[in-house]
Amino acid sequence: MADNADRAENSVNDQDRAASQEQEPDYDWSWADAELGYEIPEIDTSKPSIARVYDAALGGQDNYPVDREVLEAALKINPVAIRSARVNRDFLVRGVRHLAEQGIDQFLDLGSGLPTAQNTHQVAQEVNPRARVVYVDNDPIVLAHGQALLAQNSRTRVLLADLMDPAKVLGHPGVEGFIDFSRPVGLLMVAVLHHILDEEDPAGIVKAYTGRLAPGSHLLLSHFCNTIPEAKALEENLVRSLGRGKMRSQEEITAFLDGLEPVEPGVVALPLWRPDEPVREPLDESGMIIFGGLARKTA
Ligand SMILES: C[S@@+](CC[C@H](N)C(=O)[O-])C[C@H]1O[C@@H](n2cnc3c(N)ncnc32)[C@H](O)[C@@H]1O
Repeated sequence: MADNADRAENSVNDQDRAASQEQEPDYDWSWADAELGYEIPEIDTSKPSIARVYDAALGGQDNYPVDREVLEAALKINPVAIRSARVNRDFLVRGVRHLAEQGIDQFLDLGSGLPTAQNTHQVAQEVNPRARVVYVDNDPIVLAHGQALLAQNSRTRVLLADLMDPAKVLGHPGVEGFIDFSRPVGLLMVAVLHHILDEEDPAGIVKAYTGRLAPGSHLLLSHFCNTIPEAKALEENLVRSLGRGKMRSQEEITAFLDGLEPVEPGVVALPLWRPDEPVREPLDESGMIIFGGLARKTA
């Protein structure tokens, strides 16, 4: 019995090793050429960008003084608020690892942000070297840095697109034929829907993506929540500096998962979502300001 189990495990390990040692083919950029029917916008360093402000909050290097000013203003409103970026990123890592361990081997990461320490493809490919990831972001700096990072990784793509146009994203040459929509997909909308205004129909956008997914697919989502007293002032800072931002209630965030089956523990403050270690409560405000959860498409 033990021998069989050992043999089975060794065989899985051998397959994993073979996949990870497999020679990476030269990166094929033909899908990107097909896509470029438009000009890639210049990176404008005179105005802050969401991706660069978030990078600054994570302690990254790909940001400019205008971006750091937005963070400094947020810090004045709430000194621990920017730690929520780390809390959010840790949630993304736990969520992707969980999905990969459940057998999800293709991910569509909408509003993916600049590459940082542990990115979706690294987390997923650590569990399954064959996992495929498409990163989508509308900020040209993400495309520039993502392409550099991914030049050696043929199972990962990064594309410049607005997630508010689901038909364009789903029909994109970088997505079609690379993600197999007849099989389960891990759809990520992590810390991005709070940049979509009510009048832009975020719930309809979510449905347009989940509607395209096969049963067994999952949506991993996180979102600024209006629980803490300074939420309104932080929202005003987002609108003033980045032109957009919307804090929503736990109920409103949960409603984005309507029609899907919630995975335990539902939509909660991020540190409480399947923590790797015991969490000390009560949470401080960096833990309370973003809520998130995971839900599964059943039919
Ligand atoms: C706060 S960052 C989150 C990054 C990553 N998902 C994470 O949680 O670590 C939000 C990202 O969403 C991108 N974004 C905002 N609106 C978008 C849109 N309409 N389409 C595509 N990307 C968008 C921003 O450029 C930014 O990189």
